[in-house]
Amino acid sequence: MAQLWGGRFTKETDQLVYNFNASISFDKKFYKQDMEGSIAHVKMLGRQGILTEGEAQEIVAAIKQILQEVEDGTLEISHEYEDIHSFVEATLIDRLGDTGKKLHTGRSRNDQVALDMRLYTRQEVLEMDSLLEGLLHALLTIMEHNTDTFMPGFTHLQKAQPVTLAHHLGAYFEMFKRDRQRMEDIYQRMNYCPLGSGALAGTTYDLDRYGTAAQMGFAGPTLNSMDGVSDRDYLIELLSALSTIMMHLSRFAEEIIIWNSNEYQFVEIDDAYSTGSSIMPQKKNPDIAELVRGKTGRVYGALVSLLTTMKGIPLAYNKDMQEDKELTFDAIDTVKGCLALFTGMLSTMKFQKEKMEASAKHGFTNATDAADYLVNHGVPFRDAHGIVGKLVLYCIEKQAAIDDLSLEELKQISPVFGQDIFDAVSLETCVEKRLTIGAPGQEAMKRVIALEKEYLCKDWKESITDWEAELLK
Ligand code: ARG
Repeated sequence: MAQLWGGRFTKETDQLVYNFNASISFDKKFYKQDMEGSIAHVKMLGRQGILTEGEAQEIVAAIKQILQEVEDGTLEISHEYEDIHSFVEATLIDRLGDTGKKLHTGRSRNDQVALDMRLYTRQEVLEMDSLLEGLLHALLTIMEHNTDTFMPGFTHLQKAQPVTLAHHLGAYFEMFKRDRQRMEDIYQRMNYCPLGSGALAGTTYDLDRYGTAAQMGFAGPTLNSMDGVSDRDYLIELLSALSTIMMHLSRFAEEIIIWNSNEYQFVEIDDAYSTGSSIMPQKKNPDIAELVRGKTGRVYGALVSLLTTMKGIPLAYNKDMQEDKELTFDAIDTVKGCLALFTGMLSTMKFQKEKMEASAKHGFTNATDAADYLVNHGVPFRDAHGIVGKLVLYCIEKQAAIDDLSLEELKQISPVFGQDIFDAVSLETCVEKRLTIGAPGQEAMKRVIALEKEYLCKDWKESITDWEAELLK
């Protein structure tokens, strides 16, 4: 048991209370951010004359040394401390004595933890963005090679109209593109520095909050100290965006599981991304896709958990907020793992183009086009719909596709049908006629792919300066 407080207490903390209260087992994850925040704080205290320049330099050098030792494994973060903040401060005092005791001047653990968590998650937002970017590149590569790979498009999981593989995957491209935009958006909104908020009411010291914010790459300081220490909106936004990523991955995973099934055989998942059965030797299971689908629940759980934790908390800091960490860390690590694995699985997956095309040819995916043919020959659409309905019924009885019928058979159902119907309902025509932007026709798809390529050339993260190297110099 080692804690920073105790002066006003007459008894030792009960061991169970201590264990229940302690957070070091999980907040040690941001040891680096904690020390970086302390360095920025102390440098500022020196600049402002609150500490002497000599004291500030001594503390900064000692923290850098502690950071180095933790990184190279020579100093272990001991769980006897209550939290990472206490560990760093106590280690500093051990080494510097009275000078070390000046680190916490003009600061509270409340603004400290608010800063650490922001620095940590802000970095993770960038990584999440890069992983999404990787997935988008993988998708676009497959799309570029498959603008003429026909497959059935579904509604209600029933074959509806033919599309292409590029078009189907392009839908996911749009989803993950929006997920990426959400990362950028969250980054911009969270990028304000709470350091200097103190416990809740700022401090009486002449802190340069603009200076510390700039030193750590923030757009500026937070503008209300009570909000600064108690705002967890940015985590809720992040968990919401992570839940949406998981929802998208889960839908995609579900499709891959269906496509990989013995009945569909649209894809074959690479051996490296499949697993076997301990009893059935023939099995090659899509476990990775299933796990991605399954892990969606725990990310949603983190979102609902934090929303619930926050809903009854009066201003400003309350210990409930410590609960934000484990679930956010778990959600971040889960989504990062899922994105990386999913991208690997997707880029090694084999698409069985013939199976997809054969499936698109059956199931009357060209029925709408047959109706459109009649409309183009003067039949009102509602009548055309009825005629083609009868045609489909006839085909089901004969176990044939529309294009398998003879012209005579077609004419018996409607005399309007002519020889050109066969071309009008061929798979190629059905897809290629759909040329409005956003549709599967090859020319339309190529225009979209060119736009997506242009989008992927720009990287919003490039404008972010390397504040870390500058601070630790
Ligand atoms: N471990 C705490 C947390 O995660 C740090 C802040 C402690 N502040 C306090 N007033 N006890 O929220």
